Amino acid sequence: MRGGTLRNLLVQSIIAHAPGRVELLGNHTDYNEGLVLSAAIDRGVTVHGGPRTDGRISLTSLALEKRVTVPIQDFDKQKDEDWANYALGVVRTFANHGFQMSGFAMEIVSDLPIGAGLSSSAAIEVATATFLRKIFHWDIEPLRLAKLCRQAENEFVGVNCGLLDQVSSVFGKKNSAIYLDCRQETVETIPFPGEVALLITHSGIKHALVGGEYNERRERCFSAAKKMGARALRDVTSGELEGSRDKLTNLEYRRAAHVVGEIERVSQGIEFLRTGNSRGFGELMYASHESSRTNFENSIPELDMLVHIAHDEDAVFGSRLTGGGFGGATVSLIEASQAQRIAEKMEKEYKKQTGNECRTYLCEIDDGAR
Ligand code: GLA
Repeated sequence: MRGGTLRNLLVQSIIAHAPGRVELLGNHTDYNEGLVLSAAIDRGVTVHGGPRTDGRISLTSLALEKRVTVPIQDFDKQKDEDWANYALGVVRTFANHGFQMSGFAMEIVSDLPIGAGLSSSAAIEVATATFLRKIFHWDIEPLRLAKLCRQAENEFVGVNCGLLDQVSSVFGKKNSAIYLDCRQETVETIPFPGEVALLITHSGIKHALVGGEYNERRERCFSAAKKMGARALRDVTSGELEGSRDKLTNLEYRRAAHVVGEIERVSQGIEFLRTGNSRGFGELMYASHESSRTNFENSIPELDMLVHIAHDEDAVFGSRLTGGGFGGATVSLIEASQAQRIAEKMEKEYKKQTGNECRTYLCEIDDGAR
């Protein structure tokens, strides 16, 4: 990298950080106008740089040792540099909404495992927007910032994700869960019970949302809601779903059962969190995973194996896949004093059962973008 040249072009230097997130409960509910519980974690994306005086944007990935430089007025989606599109999407979307900016240089560093389903893409978007807000003195509400980052991912990157990832990265609060109502677009933080640890275990199988599975699941949820005369699956209870079963194909029924069940589990989960009932919350996590496995079919055998290993341990309150699915990681809620031992056991057992390596991360719940 020609660091010297880059530094000469910078007028000032700004650092921004946006955390990754772990979805605790409420799988695939966000685009169904439902409820989600998540938390920001102590890993994320840090960006660093400042304005350039030549009207160009230069983005550098330190991990990939790659740089993309484009004129701010005229750029397209990068065909061979996917990593750059998250930041470029933010530039395009905010510019389209009237936010003033000129050229800038930005270096990107991340300690989020790629493909683990911990929202490295949203973390890049939110870090970029936070960085640009600071440099160009934008006056913007946090929720609007999260929504424009989501729009960047929907329209520029081309993934129809809901609002969960960006909201979690913006609104994270140390030692608290984030409760998002995707219809009301309200965010609340709920203190997380003490004495419990969050263990994230990456199966090593990369999940890629850019694939078609995610969008296919969305369509199936929308068609199920439509056939039941509902605006969204948010409006359907599990009793109503049973009553409408013959209006739906088997696949629509099972997809809808997952989402409707998840929304109900989040409502229960909030009460368990508020009363510090980690065991009760954990049972909902196991139920969520089982529904992913059988109804939504967004699990894979490796994630099932990780949940199975966790389930054998009394000190694990609950475990489930986290995020989009189709690979990625599980999240387990564990008695803090046992967390290290269980992390080691997960790695050993997984290797024994599958022949592959998994990676464990004991995470702290952290603050949002800053
Ligand atoms: C991905 C998407 C989110 C959400 C989850 C599943 O992380 O980006 O919007 O839909 O999957 O809950």
